[in-house]
Amino acid sequence: MEALRIIQEEHQSLAAILHAVRFMLKEIKAGRLTPDFGLFKAMVHYLDAYPEKRHHPKEDDFLFARLKQRTDEGAEALARLEHDHTGGEGRIKALEAALLSYEGGEPDGLEITARAFDDFAEFYRNHMILEEREILPLARKHLTQEDWDAIDEAFRTEQDPMKGAAGEDFRAIFSRLVAAAPPPIGLGSGPYKG
Ligand SMILES: [Fe+2]
Ligand SMILES: [Fe+2]
Repeated sequence: MEALRIIQEEHQSLAAILHAVRFMLKEIKAGRLTPDFGLFKAMVHYLDAYPEKRHHPKEDDFLFARLKQRTDEGAEALARLEHDHTGGEGRIKALEAALLSYEGGEPDGLEITARAFDDFAEFYRNHMILEEREILPLARKHLTQEDWDAIDEAFRTEQDPMKGAAGEDFRAIFSRLVAAAPPPIGLGSGPYKG
């Protein structure tokens, strides 16, 4: 069940990036930090390229698809999660638009950006809770050894950054992003250069 470990690890990475962004926005509001737009944009790119474009398709194509073949249990939750997965483009666009208004000097830019990231984080918190509390236990209960072998293999292959479509090493990007965030989250090694 390596796939389950990978899913949970990816949820933690997503939560860590969101925590870092929201922490930075609060520090900026308190006058203790100046905005690093390069870092914010790199974080939004990560959220788009990894959770939205790779994590969700993996769940849909391998885990959810097999689970639906084995049981009707959790059908409602699965429908909701799949619907959530289709909204990625709009979610990312909302973050980009907020950041653009902030960088462009709009008076409410910081407020708008903080709200956009709060909404995004709240959405993901609920999404991940539903996956971890309802769907992963059902997968443990209903999937066969043969299912797990196939799913684990698919996840392992997909996880290899060399085989990713864009060739990006998301582990390395994640480490650089977190390191660029100010203490106590990172090392404050910004401004972010990518
Ligand atoms: Fe998901
Ligand atoms: Fe997920």
